[in-house]
Amino acid sequence: MHTDPQYIILLGPPASGKGTQATKLRAALELPHIASGDLFRYNLKHQTELGLKAKGYMEQGELVPDAITIRMVMARLRQPDCAGGALLDGFPRTIAQAEALEAALAEEEAQVNLVLNIVVPDDVLVERVTGRRLCRECGASYHVKFLPPQAAGICDKCGGELYQRPDDTEETVRTRIAVYWEQTSPLVDYYRQQSVLVDIDGNQSVEKVTESLTAKVAPIMVSRN
Ligand code: AP5
Repeated sequence: MHTDPQYIILLGPPASGKGTQATKLRAALELPHIASGDLFRYNLKHQTELGLKAKGYMEQGELVPDAITIRMVMARLRQPDCAGGALLDGFPRTIAQAEALEAALAEEEAQVNLVLNIVVPDDVLVERVTGRRLCRECGASYHVKFLPPQAAGICDKCGGELYQRPDDTEETVRTRIAVYWEQTSPLVDYYRQQSVLVDIDGNQSVEKVTESLTAKVAPIMVSRN
């Protein structure tokens, strides 16, 4: 049995399905799901200093500065539940973040093992973002057209109220997509050159995308069990 830590990155533009797929993969991989956007939203909700620093950037659809983001994610990765690795969602998002991650993992004699690059056309992303609804209580994610709840506005799982993220407007998502192309897409070549990146067609049903991803992570699952 291999017990080496495994670091898997879900890379992709806003609303490409990173969060949706992470919730399906994390149990099978037995890895904690670390989503930088969720960490920021948690801090925002609890009005921490970090949350207040991130607020304006998030509302505008811009990236939070690297120094703040790197410090936050590294602190999370040092928690004991990450000793066996992590499924990273939304981090890294710049070359500087990728280099900081690489340096931190190298100190533990670990590395990024696999980057799952979810590819979805920009026009599909806009429709996905504007239709997304989330549960205020349990965080479950829905889509008014592609994954509607049984009763409008109410979570199927816990009965909580569904809401729309403030950065899920058409105007903000267009900025987020532009930011993705400018600052995050260079990571595709960065990781391709390291031979750890695989492309996944994210413009299929949720189930089909899960199948494609599962096929790519299967060797890692086998080595962990
Ligand atoms: P973050 O929360 O990471 O947002 P994002 O990357 O824009 O990603 P999303 O959460 O919008 O989408 P997703 O890919 O998880 O898609 P989902 O599965 O929900 O970041 C928010 C902000 O925080 C950033 O703008 C930035 O300010 C800051 N930030 C975060 N990380 C940072 C970093 N590293 N550096 C600097 N700043 C950072 O799916 C979307 C919708 O589509 C859902 O409704 C879902 O039901 C539906 N859907 C999913 N898959 C399918 C499918 N196959 N078919 C049909 N519908 C689907």
